[in-house]
Parts: sequence; structure tokens; C-alpha cells
Amino acid sequence: MEYINKILLGDCGDVLKNLPENSVDLIFTSPPYADQRKNTYGGIHPDDYVEWFLPKSLEFKRVLKPTGSFVLNIKERVVAGERHTYVLDLILALRSQGWLWTEEYIWHKKNSFPGKWPNRFRDSWERLLHFTKDKKFKIYQENVMIPIGDWAKDRLSNLSDTDQIRDESKVNSGFGKNISNWVGRKKVYPTNVLYLATECSNKNHSAVFPVELPEWFIKLFTEPGDLVLDPFVGSGTTCFAAMELGRNYLGIDIVEEYIDLSHERLSGVQIRIPSVAEKKGDYSNERVEKNG
Ligand SMILES: C[S@@+](CC[C@H](N)C(=O)[O-])C[C@H]1O[C@@H](n2cnc3c(N)ncnc32)[C@H](O)[C@@H]1O
Repeated sequence: MEYINKILLGDCGDVLKNLPENSVDLIFTSPPYADQRKNTYGGIHPDDYVEWFLPKSLEFKRVLKPTGSFVLNIKERVVAGERHTYVLDLILALRSQGWLWTEEYIWHKKNSFPGKWPNRFRDSWERLLHFTKDKKFKIYQENVMIPIGDWAKDRLSNLSDTDQIRDESKVNSGFGKNISNWVGRKKVYPTNVLYLATECSNKNHSAVFPVELPEWFIKLFTEPGDLVLDPFVGSGTTCFAAMELGRNYLGIDIVEEYIDLSHERLSGVQIRIPSVAEKKGDYSNERVEKNG
């Protein structure tokens, strides 16, 4: 099919009109941030951001399968001394468009440089807003389990009476726990905060995110052979991650130079055998990026 494993040039809202409905398993993307990168790929004024975004997200919704997920990496900027509300406005507008705002993940940039600002500190995190079309969507939590860590040795060797039963949240958060369930386990589920370094290597694009970011969500929300779409693909990071994990990809960008950059980057991918790696639950050091 002409849109499978391709990087296409154009406005994503237009290009996606050629795609069949319900054909994509995961949309993972980082759109141009409001007004921030005027000199590279055109800024959108924060006040106009929602209006600019909505026709595109309507197409995202049309092409996404009912079992699929849409993960949006975004962070509001400071305008005239305060945080602009365009991301919050966008969340509300996407809900009105029919999306469910299912979850919010945080990317904590663990290597951000120190700095001094008069009335705030260095911004060290970004949002990953998780939208779905349906309450029931595909999720493979085992694929992102992490080692239980040293705390378990002491904590789990000395269980109290309440540790043996389900301890419901005292504040009605719905997050109860039964500590004894974790005795003898080597892996646990992660939190919704991802600690990742920012992308430092020069990929000739000014807004590259680390490949571990799409990787984590691709493992969580898709199976090998599924289709992953990045409608604002930039240097091709999402497609790179999809390809090496044995998923199909579709990338779109409005700047021709970035299409070339993505192609160049993808030509260096060595595909892993994901079904085997996923069963082992171990992806840690397997990635090979020849061009990176
Ligand atoms: C934040 S960057 C994405 C960077 C990417 N995540 C990476 O790792 O390289 C956003 C990209 O969206 C592209 N873009 C802007 N408007 C677009 C549109 N209407 N349709 C498709 N791409 C667009 C820009 O050219 C830019 O490369």
C-alpha cells in the first residue's frame, strides 16, 4: 500500500485525507510548538494554536483504529510572563472533538542544564497527552516493565498485616495496593513519569526527541506489524523507533529537507526481532543506529 513504510511530503491534514479510516494503530507525535521556532518551520501564534490543530486532529481521529492511541508530546510556553493556556485549551477542544483524554505522561528531561530565571526555574519536563477514541484500547503493559529495584529486598521481607490485604486509597484516588503481590517478582510496572535524557546528537533538526520516547509508547500500545503514524515527523525519530521494533510506519512533514533527513536516518536502521525481545521483556541495549 502506498502509505505503508513511507515518509510523505505535505501538510499532514491534507496528506491524511488519502488514508483509509481506521487504519492506524498508534499516532505518536510532537507538533511544532506555538511560535517557538519561527526561523525553522514557521511558528503558530499561541492564540491560534487550537484553531490550527483541530482540522488535523479530525483527520487523526478518522484514520486511527477504535483500538488505537494518540500520544501528543507538547508543552505550553511562557507568553507575557505567564504560561499560555493553549495546551489546556487544546485538551478541552480535543475532548469536544470526540477524543477521550485517557492519561497524561510526563517526560522528565534528566539532563537539562542548570540556569537562572528571575521568577521561575528551568523547565525540565514535557507532557505526553494520551488520547483514545474508546475506553477499550490496545495496551501491552508487560512490554514496559522495569526491574523491581533494591527497595524490594527490605520492604518485602518484613510484611505487616495490612501488606497482606488490598489497601484501598484513603483519598479515593482508586489506586489501592496489595504489597504482598510483589513478593518474589523481579519486574514491576513503571510509573507515568519517564526519565529520559534530551536528544543531544546532532540530527540536523532543531526539535528532535530521544528515540527512547516513541520506543516506550510503541512497545506499550502496539504489536509487531502494527502501523505507527507520526504526522509531524521531523528527523524521523518515531519512524526509526517503529521500524527497529518491527512495526510499520508512516511519517509526514511539510518541509522537504526533513523528508530527506528521515530517509537518510531510516536507511541506517537494523531491525530487531521484536517478538523474541518482547517475550524476554528486554530491549535495554539492543538498539543499533548506524547513522547516529
Ligand atoms: C517538533 S518537530 C518534530 C520533531 C521530531 N519529533 C523529531 O524527533 O525529529 C515538528 C515538525 O512538524 C513539521 N510540520 C509543521 N507543520 C506541519 C504540517 N502542517 N504538516 C506536517 N508537518 C508539519 C515541521 O516541519 C517539523 O519538522
